[in-house]
Amino acid sequence: MSIWARLAAACLMLLAGAVAAQDRYPGIGRAATPAEIAAWDIDVRADFTGLPKGQGTVSQGQELWEKKCASCHGYFGESNEVFPPIIGGTTADDVKRGRVRSLIESSDQRTTLMKLSHLSTLWDYIRRAMPWNEPKSLTVDEVYAVTAYILNMGDLLPGDFTLNDQNIREVQKRLPNRDGLRPFPGLSDVRGKPDVRNTPCMKDCVKGELKIVSSYPENAKDTHGNLADQNRLVGPVRGVVTVAGAAKAGEVSASVGAALVRKNGCQLCHGITSRVVGPSFREIAQRYAGDVGAGARLVTKVKTGGSGNWGNVAMPPQSSIADGDIQSMMLWLLNGAR
Ligand code: HEC
Ligand code: HEC
Repeated sequence: MSIWARLAAACLMLLAGAVAAQDRYPGIGRAATPAEIAAWDIDVRADFTGLPKGQGTVSQGQELWEKKCASCHGYFGESNEVFPPIIGGTTADDVKRGRVRSLIESSDQRTTLMKLSHLSTLWDYIRRAMPWNEPKSLTVDEVYAVTAYILNMGDLLPGDFTLNDQNIREVQKRLPNRDGLRPFPGLSDVRGKPDVRNTPCMKDCVKGELKIVSSYPENAKDTHGNLADQNRLVGPVRGVVTVAGAAKAGEVSASVGAALVRKNGCQLCHGITSRVVGPSFREIAQRYAGDVGAGARLVTKVKTGGSGNWGNVAMPPQSSIADGDIQSMMLWLLNGAR
């Protein structure tokens, strides 16, 4: 090879290397941008690494709680109707000791505050997962406020307290079960050694026929509706409405309505044919069949929430959904929820 040919080959290799670094899987997506990574990188660790600056008062937290949390967890965090209670079961003596006595002495129901050993867990969990029907909708300050209110309900903070990213370390020292976590390096590390000794198999590991032995047991089927319809919808990626060739405008709106019901997470609380937290959609359709004014009343009810027509549990206001979308959903519903 001539010197020029060699030089050209070297240049090509360098170029290929640069392309590979930038686009490792050409044609398949692209590398995440730093801003995209930052949006996901929100974990708060036990030592509060990752905790963003901010603050919130107990009374701001109370207002938020009553608007956005109480419908599921109860006004005092006591609700045991659908979810385990958040507040209760801790004593002033536990706060002194840092270990909740009733966890050791009885197998009664456990509340969140009884188990909580790291305040960062509560803060992080609320920020990423609550309210259940609208995860990640709270601002950082709102997460501080509602965390402060939960601790106030548990008699751990006074009513005039402002929780912030600095004093949260002091507040950690008041958790009734702060010394309740037993570190368990366990599965991967036992007394400084891994707990398995096999040589890892990386090739031709399955001898003979591979059989999958576990399955969804027959008696568990149908007990929770169709799980495939109940995926929780989080994040910006949503299913698109794909209605093809529907003949009448009414049918189009109705099937758009069905898609909106899925998109807006109504099925967290309503099955099509089975009760969850609220009545099933078919039940609602049956009750209002032939009732001319029902459409408008139900649109208002979905927007403002409330209880009493089906029981004591309230529907939280679905206030962030556009009116037109609620109308399409009610059209679908009053058409028989099919
Ligand atoms: C639509 C009903 C609903 C609403 C509204 C709601 N939650 Fe929850 N919450 C749940 C459910 C269901 C769980 C259990 C989730 C799980 O285990 O996956 C839960 C769990 C929790 C837990 C953890 C309990 C534990 O010990 O594991 C906390 C804390 C909590 N919610 C706080 C809040 C706060 C704060 C709000 C308001 C900003 C809120 N929730 C609004 C349904 C709701
Ligand atoms: C956190 C649980 C929850 C969520 C989420 C929820 N609902 Fe409800 N819904 C309820 C409960 C509980 C009731 C019963 C209220 C009552 O007794 O008046 C109800 C009642 C209803 C009713 C009947 C109202 C009446 O007065 O008869 C309609 C219609 C309805 N919901 C539609 C929706 C739609 C549409 C969505 C989604 C945008 C939705 N719901 C989301 C809990 C929920």
